[in-house]
Amino acid sequence: FMKRRKKWSCYPPGPVSLPFVGTMPYVNYNNPILSFEKFRKKFGNVFSLQNCWTNVVVLNGYNTVKEALVNKSEDFADRPYMPIYEHLGYGHKSEGIVLAKYGHVWKELRKFTLITLRNFGMGKKSLEERVTEEAGFLCSAISSEGGRPFDLHLLVNNAVSNVICTITYGERFEYGDETFKKLLTLFENSLNEEIGLLPELLQVVPILLRIPGLPQMIFRCQKEYIDFTEMLIEKHKETWNPAYTRDFTDAFLKEMAKGNEAEVNGFNRTNLSFVTSDLLAAGSQTTSTTLRWAFLFMLLYPEIQSKVHKEIDKVIGRNRPPTMADQANMPYTNAVIHEVQRCGDIIPMGLPHMTYRDTKLQGFFIPKGTTIITNLTSVLKDETVWKKPNEFYPEHFLNENGEFVRPEAFLPFSAGRRACLGEQLAKMELFIFFTTLMQKFTFVIPEDQPRPREDGHFAFINSPHPYQLQAVPR
Ligand code: HEM
Repeated sequence: FMKRRKKWSCYPPGPVSLPFVGTMPYVNYNNPILSFEKFRKKFGNVFSLQNCWTNVVVLNGYNTVKEALVNKSEDFADRPYMPIYEHLGYGHKSEGIVLAKYGHVWKELRKFTLITLRNFGMGKKSLEERVTEEAGFLCSAISSEGGRPFDLHLLVNNAVSNVICTITYGERFEYGDETFKKLLTLFENSLNEEIGLLPELLQVVPILLRIPGLPQMIFRCQKEYIDFTEMLIEKHKETWNPAYTRDFTDAFLKEMAKGNEAEVNGFNRTNLSFVTSDLLAAGSQTTSTTLRWAFLFMLLYPEIQSKVHKEIDKVIGRNRPPTMADQANMPYTNAVIHEVQRCGDIIPMGLPHMTYRDTKLQGFFIPKGTTIITNLTSVLKDETVWKKPNEFYPEHFLNENGEFVRPEAFLPFSAGRRACLGEQLAKMELFIFFTTLMQKFTFVIPEDQPRPREDGHFAFINSPHPYQLQAVPR
């Protein structure tokens, strides 16, 4: 292998590979971004690593990531195969969307998902109404805390998950529901199961996964999470009437009923479970973690909070609920939400990509089948683009006239063919949930609590450390 790598002229530089383990011992898998920063300083914006036998190239900075994901979109559109999910049923024609290999099945499923979500109102009014209604429930739940200190983690999560759960399974969970609490814990634990050296090692030496019972033991929560979504699908099937399409699961079942051709396009029972659990996983924690960052920044920067309050009072007032149409008239609030996404930087390493063919990037040769990590932190905090990369500074998104501007390096949803499929829905949720809560409350740090930490906790998603707040009615 080493010979092969040496033969490729212009392969990106990187730390010296050790026998068998490659460069794995040099990387802190509990927070790889820290290691990447060190390598970047030494080797530049495109550097290589080697996870045992797997070639990995890490892309850093806006120009590099843009060249790969936008200018050479198809070359970088594949995903590495993920043997660690095989024990769940992941495999040929049942890879869901998020981790599906680039090709016909992924294309069909992505197209189907986008169209179906759009038909259920994604980007349209009916979905906006649903989000608005859920934001109203969230406000009532926060009001019932009576201004006492509390952690809004669970409530916000519940509200955001309800939106995607309704679209996907036609189900919503009452706040405080025990089943929902279990689902949330399972999901968070399953993310924790996937970080660290051991999962990384199992990914590159999949033969270890054949040890009887090992995957079930290490990825216990992942399995329980999938079983939970299975239960929602089964419950749902009991009431299925092909004449009506109530939600995404119904639409998928209808597609499956078309028979062989549909099967070839990935519409099978196992994939129904993967696709829907992908939507739930991709569409709940991401948005709710971003909202938790938003309220944390409001606590830490009361002067910014008060400017948002003023803009809400001026444009919407205190009574009617915010609508997406208000966004165009609220440059400051819009800038704050974008800055929350930039600073919160919730998916620091993006999702892994893989080269679909031999390609060149910034003068380097990258062979087909190389795992690609897009260091999104290095884009969202690129010091050549952002004036104050490591500070919360909404002015990054405002011009000298106070109008909203969006620098191209704002890529929290990534870019290119594999860019986030739920970007429109996520943006709607962030705006409606944030402005609805800010319209009704002032958020303050409880007197007996320390100033919350501004750094994050990494478990694939970068989330705020737990914090308490008081929601004082306005
Ligand atoms: C993929 C970010 C919300 C569904 C992604 C990726 C990122 C991302 C960085 C990886 C793109 C890549 O591979 O280059 C976010 C953020 C969100 C959010 C920051 C919220 C603030 C959502 C929502 C949905 C969703 C609400 C549900 C509809 C997906 C799916 C993919 C994806 C299905 C995989 C796309 C593919 O591989 O073709 N997202 N996302 N996301 N996201 Fe989101």
